[in-house]
Amino acid sequence: MAMAYSPRTHLIYLPAHQIPFGYKNQTGGFKAHPDSWNLGLDMTKTGLPDNAEARSAYMKDLHGEVLAWDPVKMQTVWQIDHKGPWNGGVLATGGDLLFQGLANGEFHAYDATNGSDLFKFNAQSGIIASPISYSVNGKQYVAVEVGWGGIYPISMGGMGRTSGWTVNHSFVAVFSLDGKASLPEMNSLGFLPVKPPAEYDSKVVDKGYFQYQTYCQTCHGDNGEGAGMLPDLRWSGSIRHKDAFYNVVGRGALTAYGMDRFDTSMTPDEIESIRQYLIKRANDTYQREVDARKNASGTPQDPVIGIAPK
Ligand code: HEC
Repeated sequence: MAMAYSPRTHLIYLPAHQIPFGYKNQTGGFKAHPDSWNLGLDMTKTGLPDNAEARSAYMKDLHGEVLAWDPVKMQTVWQIDHKGPWNGGVLATGGDLLFQGLANGEFHAYDATNGSDLFKFNAQSGIIASPISYSVNGKQYVAVEVGWGGIYPISMGGMGRTSGWTVNHSFVAVFSLDGKASLPEMNSLGFLPVKPPAEYDSKVVDKGYFQYQTYCQTCHGDNGEGAGMLPDLRWSGSIRHKDAFYNVVGRGALTAYGMDRFDTSMTPDEIESIRQYLIKRANDTYQREVDARKNASGTPQDPVIGIAPK
């Protein structure tokens, strides 16, 4: 995300984030998996086990903030801690304002000299883009592209919701001092849990987990959980039928929409093992996802629902 420098305050503004990642080489050396994210890693080890201890430990290292940094003294002048990482780029203006959109869907104007929060707007969707400012006939505007995306929410799965529940809505929001427009109400429910088929083949779910982490996690989220951008496969109708799933994953029924086909990189049995694994994940997590939505908003209030309440 873009940083900014203000020649007025002589400060650098850094949208910072810290995101841990597990590195373990592929067993037996590098083996390419065509049509996947080839990092040379065992992708099952980049993922998080579904237990409270592992996730709580991970959460401790997961944070995001905006820093005002004095490059001459080499020190932080002020800092605002956000709920989690993956917040938007920043814009510093001649009026000593600092604009930033956040992963939780808020758009803020801070005082660039001391970080006090001067203005807040609920954009109803995570923001990662950098704002811009321009003037037309002497009138000043600030614009930001609202939208939740990038590698963190698509690949981190449930942990990608650290800043709160957010669903991707893409639009450009433009502000002016006398602006009065408001946003239409937007659906914030996201992908809703659908009761999965009860049966799955437990003999192939470990193989399915490996194939999923290697070929699908990059876009559909760690351990079969989505973070609000792409379809959450646990609740997809396609997992209910072998052929339906193979038509999408093997034969490429949705390639026009950004969903690749995998019949040249996996056998039909391997693709089927992913489906079995997804049905297992859906069964393991269905009730806790339903329970997390039992409130007035219908969205999880503790978004990182992999952490079971003690
Ligand atoms: C490069 C990113 C990417 C990767 C990798 C990827 N997908 Fe997708 N997938 C998508 C997108 C984007 C969509 C949504 C397409 C649409 O809008 O219809 C999608 C949709 C799907 C759907 C349909 C969901 C529904 O109910 O509409 C299934 C099933 C699916 N993917 C399975 C998989 C599996 C299994 C893998 C791994 C073998 C995989 N995907 C890997 C991007 C990806």
